[in-house]
Amino acid sequence: MDKLAIVGGVRLAGEIPVSGAKNAALPILCAALLTEEPLEVENVPHLRDVDTLLALLARMGVAIEREGPTVRLQAKRIVSPEAPYELVKTMRASILVLGPLVARCHEAVVSLPGGCAIGARPVDQHIKGLQALGATVRVEHGYIHATTPGLRGARLVPDLVTVTGTENLLMAACLAEGTTVIENAAREPEVSDLARCLVAMGADIDGIGTDTLRVRGVSRLHGARYRVMPDRIETGTYLCAAAITGGGIRLTRADPGSLEAVLAKLAEAGCRIETGPDWVVLQAPARLRAVDVRTAPYPGFPTDMQAQFMALDTVAEGSGVIRETIFENRFMHAVELQRLGADIRIDGNTAVVTGVARLDGAAVMATDLRASAGLVVAALKAEGETIIERIYHLDRGYERIEEKLGALGAQVRRIR
Ligand code: EPZ
Repeated sequence: MDKLAIVGGVRLAGEIPVSGAKNAALPILCAALLTEEPLEVENVPHLRDVDTLLALLARMGVAIEREGPTVRLQAKRIVSPEAPYELVKTMRASILVLGPLVARCHEAVVSLPGGCAIGARPVDQHIKGLQALGATVRVEHGYIHATTPGLRGARLVPDLVTVTGTENLLMAACLAEGTTVIENAAREPEVSDLARCLVAMGADIDGIGTDTLRVRGVSRLHGARYRVMPDRIETGTYLCAAAITGGGIRLTRADPGSLEAVLAKLAEAGCRIETGPDWVVLQAPARLRAVDVRTAPYPGFPTDMQAQFMALDTVAEGSGVIRETIFENRFMHAVELQRLGADIRIDGNTAVVTGVARLDGAAVMATDLRASAGLVVAALKAEGETIIERIYHLDRGYERIEEKLGALGAQVRRIR
C-alpha cells in the first residue's frame, strides 16, 4: 500500500491551480442518470472517488467517455438500477444514485452505506424525503429497495441539514410531478453547483444558494455541458499547508467566495490573504496564532477543514479550542498528531490544542480523507521525516497531491 514520505521544514512558495471540486463532481456525474441525452462535465478531477462512481454508472449502462478533465456521459437506457455493496462500501457518495434512479426508472436497489470512520452517518433523511415524494421504500438485507408509480411533488423538511440528502432529493424532485419545496436545505456551494447543472439540463429550480429550494417538476431533462466549480476544500488545504510552513503561495482557478469562513480564520491566525475573482494569495507570519474553530453547515466553518486547522493549532502561539458539531467521531487525526509531539486534549466533541515549539517526524496512519490532509499539513512543519501510511484515503480526494506540493517546494515522495 502506498505511503507518503514528507521531510518538514521547507517554506512553501509558488503557484498552483486548484482542481475541480470532488463533492460537486460526484452529484453532477450522477445527474447524467436523469436524462437520455449526453451530459458533458468539465473540470472533473482525477480521483479515486470519481473512478469508483464512473464504474458504478457504467455498470448501470451509462456510456462514458473521458478525455482529461472532461467526462461525457450518456444514460440512453439504464440496464440495471442497482448499486451493489462492493462499490457503495468503498464510497458513501454512491448513495447519490438513489434519487436519480427512482426519478428516472421508478425503482432502485442501493446498498446501505453503513458506518464509516468518522461516524454512523445514517441515510434516514434521504429515505424519508423519497417516501414523502411518493416512493415506497423498504430496507432489507442491507439494501434500500425503492419503487414508485411516479414521484409527486411535496414539501420536504429534513430533520437536519444534510448535503447529499439535499442533493438526492433535489435530483429526484426535478422529474417529480408538481412542485417540491425542500426546506432546511443544505446551502453548501456544491449543492448550488449541482442545482445550476440541473437548470442547464432544463430543470426549474428557485432559491439556489438558500435553505429553501423550490423545484417545479418537468417531464424530462435534456443534455447539457457544465463546468464543475473549483474545490474549496483542496484550496483550504493548500492554504493551511503554506500557512504552517510560514510560506507564501498563490492558488489559481480557485473560488475564494466559497471559502470565506476558512479565509477569515486564516487571517485571524495571522496570515495575510488577498483574493481576486479566481485566485487566492496567502502570506503566512513566522508563527501562527492559535484559533478556535466550531464546525457548522455552510456558510459556517466546514467540517472538511477541521483536521487541517487542528494541525495549524499544534504549532501556533497559544491554544485553540476545536468543536466538531457535524460528525461524532472526527478526531482520529488527534492521536496521530500526538505521535508527532502535538499537545491535544479531547473531551467529547471538543479538542483543546496547545501550540508546541516543534513537531518531530514520525510514522503515522491516515484514517480518512481529511484526517490524512491534516497529517500532511503537520508533516510539512515537523522536523525530519514523517511517513504517512494508507494514503489511498488521500488519493480519494486530492488530485496529484505529491506533484502539487512538490511544485510549491515541499520535500515529498510517494513510496509504492
Ligand atoms: C457531505 O457528506 C460530504 N460528502 C462530506 O465530505 C462532508 O464532510 C459532509 O457533507 C458535511 O459537510 C459529499 O458531499 C460526497 P451530511 P454527507 O449528510 O452528505 C447526519 C469529504 O471528506 N445525517 O451533510 O454524507 C450525518 O450523520 C466528505 O469529502 C443523518 O443523521 O454529510 C451527519 O452527522 C466526508 N441522516 C450530518 O447529518 C441522514 O439521512 C451531516 O451529514 C443524513 C445525514
